[in-house]
Amino acid sequence: MIRLPRPGWALPALLAGCLAFPLPAAAGAGDAFIAARRIPDAPPLDPLSPVWLKRPATAITLYPQTSVPPATAGKPLAAKLRVLYDDQSAAIHVEWADAAPARGRHIGRFADAVALQWPMNRSPARLPYIGMGHAGAPVAVWLWRADGSAETLAAEGFGTLTRRAPDGMQARGAWKDGVWRVVFRRALAAWSGDAPRFDPERGLPPVAVAVWNGEAAERDGIKRLSAWLAMGPGKIDGADARPLGAGADPERGRRLMSEHGCAACHGFPANPARPRIGPDLSYAGGIHTLAYLRESLMEPSKVVVPGKGYDMVQEGRRRSRMPPFAGTEAEREDILAYLASLR
Ligand code: HEC
Repeated sequence: MIRLPRPGWALPALLAGCLAFPLPAAAGAGDAFIAARRIPDAPPLDPLSPVWLKRPATAITLYPQTSVPPATAGKPLAAKLRVLYDDQSAAIHVEWADAAPARGRHIGRFADAVALQWPMNRSPARLPYIGMGHAGAPVAVWLWRADGSAETLAAEGFGTLTRRAPDGMQARGAWKDGVWRVVFRRALAAWSGDAPRFDPERGLPPVAVAVWNGEAAERDGIKRLSAWLAMGPGKIDGADARPLGAGADPERGRRLMSEHGCAACHGFPANPARPRIGPDLSYAGGIHTLAYLRESLMEPSKVVVPGKGYDMVQEGRRRSRMPPFAGTEAEREDILAYLASLR
């Protein structure tokens, strides 16, 4: 296992980002749907090609990582995605604003970077944890850095990144007028091997995006990330689409967060105490699916977030320090409505 080699990033860039792309109203967990478009010729690797730029993009939001310390400072960042494929290859174009490019990696300096994350297994019974998968649900990661390097990695949870053999992924980035644009491309034949697999009928597997701002010294877990995003036709594979219970009320949920003790362990906007016994939930609705949030309340130990002090060992097993939710179903749905609104 290796640590993510430290890439490098800028706060002014984030402000510029807000001006360049107004944040979309609905691009949180489960909302964004990215159409994969078929074109006659190979999608170009050049991120500035008009083949890319003339096509409509899907707006997504990248949220500061606050689930495990050290938490990422600053605001959510708007980004755009485009997906094109032909008979031979499929490619993804990512675009985000950054006022000052950070390209070099030296001691104490970090390069801008972007990563795509895929579930390693297509049609999983459930989606991997958004924070780089969880035990038994690995993810493949394509990482491009502004120094021009690109590599494929694998992870089974925060801090478990390992290098993988090159899988035919190519990536190229270009910074112009305050905007980074990066294309990741891979031959379709390669997609049919191990994940991520491309299926023209069903599009691409779900994808999640992460961006690091080198000028702000962002690297490793200090980054901005999206929710799992559905690609191609259909809903996200492996996501339990059960909606919120009828009449669930976020305002009631916010109050219940105090009454049920959540506020003793979790930071969230309505909780000035900002305790760090459990993950900060400030962007829980932006990065997590409703199914995952519901499971977190009912069965906290199903996926244990790997933050320091978040778990304990009981009967030889890693267990969450969080007690399972003991309120009524209606109260649980109110709390979920509140959590889903945090983005
Ligand atoms: C005793 C402290 C404690 C209490 C009380 C508590 N939690 Fe947690 N919670 C944690 C810890 C620690 C974790 C991380 C380990 C895990 O995955 O369960 C966690 C994880 C979570 C997660 C998953 C977060 C992520 O980033 O993946 C959610 C959502 C959550 N809690 C919501 C709640 C809600 C809502 C309540 C109140 C009904 C609550 N918690 C009560 C300690 C607590």
